[in-house]
Amino acid sequence: MTNFWENLKQPIFAMAPLSGITDSAFRRVCKDFGADLVYSELASTTALAYNPAHTLELVRFDPSERPYIVQLFGSNPDHFARAARLVTEQVRPDGIDINFGCPVPKVTKTGAGAALMTNLPLAREVIRSVIENTPLPVSLKVRIRVKDVRLPDFLDYVGDLDIKAVMVHGRSLAQRFSGPNEIETTRKVRENFRGIVLANGGATSAEKGMELLRATGAHGLGVARGALGRPWIFRELKGAANGGPCTVSRWQIIQTALGHARMAEVLKGRRGLIEMRKHLCWYIQNVPRAGEIRKKLAAVTSMDEIEEILETIEYEA
Ligand SMILES: Cc1cc2nc3c(=O)[nH]c(=O)nc-3n(C[C@H](O)[C@H](O)[C@H](O)COP(=O)(O)O)c2cc1C
Repeated sequence: MTNFWENLKQPIFAMAPLSGITDSAFRRVCKDFGADLVYSELASTTALAYNPAHTLELVRFDPSERPYIVQLFGSNPDHFARAARLVTEQVRPDGIDINFGCPVPKVTKTGAGAALMTNLPLAREVIRSVIENTPLPVSLKVRIRVKDVRLPDFLDYVGDLDIKAVMVHGRSLAQRFSGPNEIETTRKVRENFRGIVLANGGATSAEKGMELLRATGAHGLGVARGALGRPWIFRELKGAANGGPCTVSRWQIIQTALGHARMAEVLKGRRGLIEMRKHLCWYIQNVPRAGEIRKKLAAVTSMDEIEEILETIEYEA
């Protein structure tokens, strides 16, 4: 089985996993704007082990999204083993990622997500279970610190396992999703870890992303909230890294929002359009009369309504 990580041109710009957001429609939009790699939403290994239909549906993808990684969470090595086999055989992504960063109490109280980083022997068992049950490359999404466990020590403990890549959220569990990115730890991981290292946290613009890349020396970036309503951040990052066009006009923004909504409807029907409401509000955040338009978009239920509302936006920037 090929290790796609080795074939990616660096710097690698990945759309990081966002539960409730990085569904197939959004991932395709990010790919269209140049994302090198996309992740699924968080998928429960317990659900995959016992009642997989809904979760398998959640992680389905289109070949145009490749390379595509399915991210798993849980705390039971046996569930991880079964989930890894099922995903490998029935979903056929390019890689499997294990979540060690989720701070949500519903997840951590079961010993999963960030809580799994504090139980070194169990974390090791989980990683080993996945590696032994899939030929696909396995990666981790980690935080720089969870309680008294520091990432470099965590990686030392599991470092002999065949982990191909890590995405480092440069914040501790206590910081959750805000506050400064602790650059130093990611730089240390980059120096000592033998696989690919993606820096994550705070890449809210191409400038900030390039600064994070430079400061950490990472092989690439995981962009999360910076792509919400701005999936062209990948084009901007590519432009900053390699040259090339990177601006988008207001007309393109509206066409992107419309294309995204149409795809959401094709893939999920009316539910897709309801879920689109938040994306639509993010897309139009910088257009004139955004507040007024947002109120209307937050209540849409059909593609006709979306088209009608977006048509009222002037194309000239
Ligand atoms: C709404 C939301 C959902 C998230 N879902 C996931 C997830 O499913 N898996 C994961 O590893 N991280 C998840 N994250 C964390 C992001 O991938 C990322 O690590 C974090 O937002 C920091 O990056 P940013 O500053 O670029 O947003 C989520 C973050 C947010 C805000």
